[in-house]
Amino acid sequence: MIDLRSDTVTKPTEVMRKAAYEAEVGDDVYEEDPTVNRLEDKAAELLGKEKALFVTSGTQGNQIAALTHCRPGEEVILEASSHIYIYEVGGFSTLANVQVRPIPGMNGAMDPVEVKNSIRSENIHYPTTSLICIENTHNLAGGAVLPLSNMQAINQIAKENNLQVHLDGARLFNAQVASGISVKEYAKNADSVQFCLSKGLGAPVGSIIAGTEEFINRARKWRKMLGGGLRQVGIIAAPGLIALEENIDRLAEDHVHAKLLADGLANIDGIKVENKVETNIIIINVKETKHTPESFVDALKYKGVLAGVFGLDTIRFVTHYDVTSEDIDKALVAVQEIV
Ligand SMILES: Cc1ncc(COP(=O)(O)O)c(C=O)c1O
Repeated sequence: MIDLRSDTVTKPTEVMRKAAYEAEVGDDVYEEDPTVNRLEDKAAELLGKEKALFVTSGTQGNQIAALTHCRPGEEVILEASSHIYIYEVGGFSTLANVQVRPIPGMNGAMDPVEVKNSIRSENIHYPTTSLICIENTHNLAGGAVLPLSNMQAINQIAKENNLQVHLDGARLFNAQVASGISVKEYAKNADSVQFCLSKGLGAPVGSIIAGTEEFINRARKWRKMLGGGLRQVGIIAAPGLIALEENIDRLAEDHVHAKLLADGLANIDGIKVENKVETNIIIINVKETKHTPESFVDALKYKGVLAGVFGLDTIRFVTHYDVTSEDIDKALVAVQEIV
């Protein structure tokens, strides 16, 4: 099977498995796991933040950010198709007890003027706006890279209004590789950052959140409350370190493969590529073929290719390190055969 459903399906490499086996460990609730400490230091350094914290998943990282930044009853501005709003089980309202204020974006980017206009004024009837969340790259916008200028404008508005900014950078390293702008530069425009080790970077488990030392000290308590205080967790932090040491620049290959696939798909009758394909995600519209998205995905599966139903007329492919250029050629043949 050529699995193009997501970049989360990668299996850890030999090197990662060996690193897990050999990892030096300690009790991380006591902050005594040397491998976790090395991973957190490395992540903080890459992001240019004072401190970082290893968390179980991207979702847990985002939830901890809301819990740490906000008080119950406050309001959070976010993009209407953001992962936090669509795919995190309503956690912001359930766990952090905050109200979300979704703003539809353009390619995942919110209009700074709309953001500014959505900040609540002081009024006895209103909730207090306390946080703005941005997502880069933007998953549902097809891995779109948010312009740095957009993030800068939003951060400036946040600071003028005494608000915090959280960056859901599950795929922030894809943005770095695609744009040439460092994660540190992006991270300057957010008070807290979450990124995933277990997507294109290829680690089996884990995410990082980073911010000031004071923020991370409070975040650590929320992580404990959520059951994310783990013990000899160096075993899973070790592959995360390998991911940061060896797999960042390699993301460029995923982007090349995505472009190859997108260009090939665009040449197939009836298929329309819906997104700009800046990173590793391709969304295609199959309305002009004989298939529904469901029957398209089923037919592809029969040919040995896995893709995901995305929307009413669309399906999605995601490239990652277990996908080769031969796989891309095979996937294109499979699509050609079924349309
Ligand atoms: C933008 C974004 N944020 C957060 C997450 C959540 O990550 P996890 O699956 O590790 O909870 C994802 C997962 O796909 C994502 O795409």
